[in-house]
Amino acid sequence: MQSLHLSRMDVSDSPNSFQKVLLAWYHDAKRPLPWRTKPSLYKTVISEFMLQQTQVKTMLPYFERWMRRFPNWKKLADADEATVLKYWEGLGYYQRARNLHSLAKHLTDRHKIPKTPDAWELFKGIGPYTAAAITSITYNYPVPVVDGNVIRVLSRITANKTLFRDNGHALKVFTPIAEKLLNKEDPGNHNQALMELGATVCYRHAPLCTICPVWAMCEAAKLGLEETLPRFAEKRSEKIEISRLFCIRDNKLLLHKVPQAGKRLQGMYEFPRHESISSKTPDHKSLLMTGKRAISYQQILERIYSGKVPENGFSPPDCEWVPLSELDAITLSGPHRRWLKKLLSDKRIS
Ligand code: ADE
Repeated sequence: MQSLHLSRMDVSDSPNSFQKVLLAWYHDAKRPLPWRTKPSLYKTVISEFMLQQTQVKTMLPYFERWMRRFPNWKKLADADEATVLKYWEGLGYYQRARNLHSLAKHLTDRHKIPKTPDAWELFKGIGPYTAAAITSITYNYPVPVVDGNVIRVLSRITANKTLFRDNGHALKVFTPIAEKLLNKEDPGNHNQALMELGATVCYRHAPLCTICPVWAMCEAAKLGLEETLPRFAEKRSEKIEISRLFCIRDNKLLLHKVPQAGKRLQGMYEFPRHESISSKTPDHKSLLMTGKRAISYQQILERIYSGKVPENGFSPPDCEWVPLSELDAITLSGPHRRWLKKLLSDKRIS
């Protein structure tokens, strides 16, 4: 492997060398992640769903906890939706949990388990990336997996200086390259090796070129462009401000339950919006805290005000008075759960 560092070679002329070096490195350097030891279809699917919008280090404790509660498809299929959401609480993008739940019901319903990417893509929540990851890792189906990490590695290996409009644009350019470089004899490990290289060596900032197994084949490193590539057009961003109320009465907290017909957060609880309860401008003296979060291109600033307890019996639409003793059992989004902890530990409130 060392000798490859001495002379440079063009990766498109030598896909076999690239594959060999990459696989040998992966064999030695891969992280011992729980879905890699004794792999199974179930573990692969759960890990890929969790990793769709979440980094490995964030999702690891969730994965372990999930496996203890739902160790197989049957246990997941038999659980009720509130429990499934509870075990997803904090990972965000809750539609992923609902899609996993419906997938488990389908697969345990005496349906044949599909083995091709096209067939997996027919399930809700499974796009080309996840279908390719599941089928190549589980069945060695010869299809490349191209995620953000792979885009970064391939853009550097090939020194592609295109200014990409977005991820979709980059995917179009790099999927055929990933196909050319794919190791058809061991596609599952090859794909995981490329993702692993992006995640643990080919960092966006300050990549670890000195320990990179494919440095000798990296055009960007040759040109000193490794930190500049890939290039993406600046993302649009939108700033949003939301005011919410924190109302406690008789040891109960007023919470809004997102209606089942609503979309992203359906069935979950959140602090009610100020405007759903009062038409007056919130009084800045009653501001308890501010929280920030980002969802896709939106930067959201949330202000939480201490609410005037509405008169007895008053309950705004889709709101419930939840006993404080039951707050652990309901599902709140990650930020709302954090804010709730902070607010309940705040000495000004009780
Ligand atoms: N990201 C998503 N799936 C992955 C995998 N199997 N290995 C490394 N990184 C990943």
